Amino acid sequence: MNIQVKSGEPTTTATDVLVCLDFEKEKTLGKHIKALDRTLDGQFTALFKSGEFQGKPNQTTLVHMNGKVSAKRILLVGVGSREDLTLERLRQAMGTAVKRVRQVKAKTFACVMPDVPKSVGHAGTVAQVLVEGAILGDYRFTEYRTNDAENGKTIQSCTLLASKDSDLTEIKAGAQCGQVLGEATCFVRDLCNHPANVMTPSRVVAEARKIARESKIRLKVLEKRDMEKLGMGGLLGVSRGSIEPPQFIILTYSGGRPTQKPIVFVGKTVTFDSGGISLKPSENMEQMKADMTGGAEVLATVRAASRLKLPLNVVGILPVTENMPGGRATKPGDILNMLSGKTVEVQNTDAEGRLILADGLAYASRLKPACVIDIATLTGACIVALGQFAIGLLGTDDSLKNDLRKAGDGAGERVWELPLWDDYFEQLKSDVADMRNIGGRGGGTITAALFLKQFIGDYPWAHLDIASTDWSASERAYISKGPTGIGTRLLIQFLLNKTNGSVR
Ligand code: BES
Ligand code: ZN
Ligand code: ZN
Repeated sequence: MNIQVKSGEPTTTATDVLVCLDFEKEKTLGKHIKALDRTLDGQFTALFKSGEFQGKPNQTTLVHMNGKVSAKRILLVGVGSREDLTLERLRQAMGTAVKRVRQVKAKTFACVMPDVPKSVGHAGTVAQVLVEGAILGDYRFTEYRTNDAENGKTIQSCTLLASKDSDLTEIKAGAQCGQVLGEATCFVRDLCNHPANVMTPSRVVAEARKIARESKIRLKVLEKRDMEKLGMGGLLGVSRGSIEPPQFIILTYSGGRPTQKPIVFVGKTVTFDSGGISLKPSENMEQMKADMTGGAEVLATVRAASRLKLPLNVVGILPVTENMPGGRATKPGDILNMLSGKTVEVQNTDAEGRLILADGLAYASRLKPACVIDIATLTGACIVALGQFAIGLLGTDDSLKNDLRKAGDGAGERVWELPLWDDYFEQLKSDVADMRNIGGRGGGTITAALFLKQFIGDYPWAHLDIASTDWSASERAYISKGPTGIGTRLLIQFLLNKTNGSVR
């Protein structure tokens, strides 16, 4: 979808669908609707009076224009009352709008820039979230459908329509930023939608290689031999049951000064998690093709940093593997020698994410990072604790955690903190090794994070458990059914905030 910004009047804008976002409980029609209403002899006044359209969040009404204005149709989308307005409501309204536009098989649509209180967001931010909503709401994955009726019937362009006196430069920059963020999330959804027989560890490397063609990005890949030399017992141990060789990706974006310490992201990239010898039940096991969401989000974040030309140094680390049973697979009771030098008794091969992340976190120390954030579909317990609307947050550094909270609130991908008290280490004790890889019944998300903490270096660290949000059972306004890519915009927004939101 082509994203454009233009200044112009709603009545004279030629498009298949003109989208107007409207507030609930207003005494008078909004500025833009008023102008349209005059041209249409009070059609909208009548519509509001009848109660058919009230402006409730995500409520829609589509009206045909029959040549009365330049647009073929007008789509009203509610955003709720002005005092309750949030950026998230705007994203959702735009997601709702784009779905309706597609329903009527329209090729182009334009959205009138709404009149938003500055306390909610400046014009650039409003443009950003509207574009995010449009791109994310329009997402579909049809690659493996040989006769999709909708093939080729994509929406060609989305135009943000600004009034003449508004700041076009700011709106254009915001829209561009929204496009990068939206496309980053769609990239993650694609990677996670691809089945595990296609999206193998070597294919993930190929995806990283494509990203490395972008400006200021370099790629280094460690192969099995290198891992053996370094002693990456965690990643090697998890990969043993699979015929696919493990990969260790280091993707570096150098947008900052050479002396500037890098922000390092470590993403769990299990291209399929069968559980290994501790095999998972078959119900919903197909969803485990998305157990690479963390890694895909890290790839997307590094790509976005380059596209946004952020003045930062960013490194993405991805330990990549399948987790499979097999004759050579790691067995319960096996002991692994990890990269950090510590030993782990594997009591459950399905707790594999922490084993590969442990090596990733230990490796990160070599980069002398400013901070390290790992992101992972780590524990089913996180779904139990937080449901589907919050990402689990744990970590050692308050200011880093606050920055992530702030980025998450802005992105509409909110995080919620759980305790990381050392008291819980009791549950990780092993009779034969430094620790075991499971923590027993209670506090599964906490014990998993506390396990990771044993492998961090001398750097501020935070951990995001996205098992709660990475997969949606239903289609929402701008969240797709299946892989959601939630967490991507949070990470990129975190970087944007570091640069005070200034996009060059
Ligand atoms: N990838 C899973 C966690 C997961 C579960 C993600 C459901 C998304 C949806 C992880 O590797 C796993 O299997 N964790 C185990 C840990 C347990 C054995 C301690 C779990 O959560 O059951
Ligand atoms: Zn597992
Ligand atoms: Zn897993």
